[in-house]
Amino acid sequence: MPPRNHKSWLAKPPVEAVSSEIYSSQKIYEEEIKKIFAKVWVPLIHKSEIKEIGDYRTSQIAFQNILIVNHGDRVRAYINPGVRGVAGNIDITLTMDNVKELYCEVKHGGMVWVTLDPNPTMSVEEWTCGAFDCIADAIDTEEMEVFHYHKAIIDTNYKLWHDTNSEFYHDFMHYFNRVSGFNDEYFARKNIPFDNGHVNVSSFTVNYTEYDGFEDRGELSFPNLPPNQWYMVDLFPGFNFNLRGSAYRSDSVTPLGPNKVLIEFRGYGLRKDTKEERLTRIKHHNSIWGPFGRNLHEDLIGVAGQGTTMREGTETRRILHGRHENGTIHDEVGMRHYYKAWGDMLGVNPEQPLAA
Ligand SMILES: [Fe+2]
Repeated sequence: MPPRNHKSWLAKPPVEAVSSEIYSSQKIYEEEIKKIFAKVWVPLIHKSEIKEIGDYRTSQIAFQNILIVNHGDRVRAYINPGVRGVAGNIDITLTMDNVKELYCEVKHGGMVWVTLDPNPTMSVEEWTCGAFDCIADAIDTEEMEVFHYHKAIIDTNYKLWHDTNSEFYHDFMHYFNRVSGFNDEYFARKNIPFDNGHVNVSSFTVNYTEYDGFEDRGELSFPNLPPNQWYMVDLFPGFNFNLRGSAYRSDSVTPLGPNKVLIEFRGYGLRKDTKEERLTRIKHHNSIWGPFGRNLHEDLIGVAGQGTTMREGTETRRILHGRHENGTIHDEVGMRHYYKAWGDMLGVNPEQPLAA
């Protein structure tokens, strides 16, 4: 697409820009909880976190308390349970009164997916509609296991976290990525949109040894994943799956306000890992994605700064998503695709979200 002037911007196609109000409005935030988070499939935990029969985890979707229980034959999810339990194990038959079971599926590398929707129109497979295909052979061939969990509560809008996972020009902010990754293959990576607002980013070969003190990750990988590859799945409305050589990471957002988000991070290896393999995966994971790694905290600082500039009461801005570069890494196709789905689900125009 040629460069655009004032006239061509006025004649813009839809969702080439969003209003900063989408990141700051209390009204929009409340609508998102109701119309998006209470409707979609949410990857809440990994099944390895409830290994034994009777193991459970608690979580929330759209401020509703959720209980996820390993029943042996299957994993089940409940809402608002009146549970009197002891940590780690409960007697389901004796203590759960007045519970309502929710739709729950284990899918895509053993994630436990739950929806508050009492009548979901799609299965998890239909909802994700191919977005996981690029990493399916790597995450579904062997049982995986969570080895890392940490969370961050950040004063920013949850969509800014998803944005940072789906746009790649902020990669210039990461020194580690610049030295280990900026090669011809990197710039040829493609953003591939799927239905329901999901996008994935195709792989390239990372040169880990370009960074002082880092080692090549080729020796320890995931099943069917060529050495030193890096795939990303950005799942609407705020879940990210990141496969980088020998370590796999998932991010999950829980919006707590227009300007507050809880982000949960998990790291995964294979259940069959030897002790040495697991230690290597943990080292590789933490050296990039741990709280003191070379990447993740930089993203957190970035989105906290963005949040500061877009709080309620700040001047409304028009944020362009107008870069067209044949779907390659700096094309904003992923952002346009996401905000098209977002606007459709909320029934608003992202450029004028508060218009009557
Ligand atoms: Fe980043």
